[in-house]
Amino acid sequence: MKQPKPVAVFDSGLGGISVLQELIRLMPQENYLYFGDSLNAPYGIKSTDEVLALTLKNIDFLLSRQAKAIVLACNTATSAAVTVLREKYHQIPIIGMEPALKPAINKLHGRIVVMATEVTLREQKFATLLDRYRAEAEIISLPASGIVNFVEQGITQGPELEAYLNEIMAPFHTPKVSGIVLGCTHFPFVKDSITKALGYEVEFFDGAEGTAKETQRQLHNNGLETDSTQPGNITFFNSNDNPKILSLCQQLLNSKKQQVL
Ligand code: DGL
Repeated sequence: MKQPKPVAVFDSGLGGISVLQELIRLMPQENYLYFGDSLNAPYGIKSTDEVLALTLKNIDFLLSRQAKAIVLACNTATSAAVTVLREKYHQIPIIGMEPALKPAINKLHGRIVVMATEVTLREQKFATLLDRYRAEAEIISLPASGIVNFVEQGITQGPELEAYLNEIMAPFHTPKVSGIVLGCTHFPFVKDSITKALGYEVEFFDGAEGTAKETQRQLHNNGLETDSTQPGNITFFNSNDNPKILSLCQQLLNSKKQQVL
């Protein structure tokens, strides 16, 4: 069979599962390796050098498992490491992520909030993105790393998460915002709780679908698509060896993106 090798998906923890869901929806016949570095999460409040070092180490692990492409299902790791990774491993496709500001601006005007980690919001990659679109809408950056810890524990609703979200969403009750960009792969799992804290419906944008489509394009352009017609398999790895993590991965994978777990 052609190309039974897996597509590797990497995140600082469990958030990248929101991207894995889209990859499987688009390319169910591929095999996937998912590595979450939950032991070291959150990445979004570390120094850029720390995130770079952790990402390089974990990508080496995935490459040692015969990955044919790497999906950085983490905006934070992409900001800190994608350039170095592409220089180091130019022989395989490395697909990165950025906050989905472009689709938001293409569709909406007015106030748009970009929720992401501190690392993503302070790095050059995001500054470049902002420069491109700042004339077209009022773009507000909102660091929201606190969400990562909740999702890492499987918490996507409930009083503690709500208290955190009520606090950070309070400035957006009035005037209302027209859209929210979820610039961290952990955040789509708490969409409903964000809407609740906001108090009104808003349009959400995340990079999962765009990243899955880009991965498909790159596999195709490099002749790396599998020719299998059977559903592929998914293997989860995590730096945290607590057995609960693997069932949490499965639980998040099976959850509907809009639904609360
Ligand atoms: N999931 C990661 C992202 O997309 C960040 C989570 C973390 O801070 O570890 O940015």
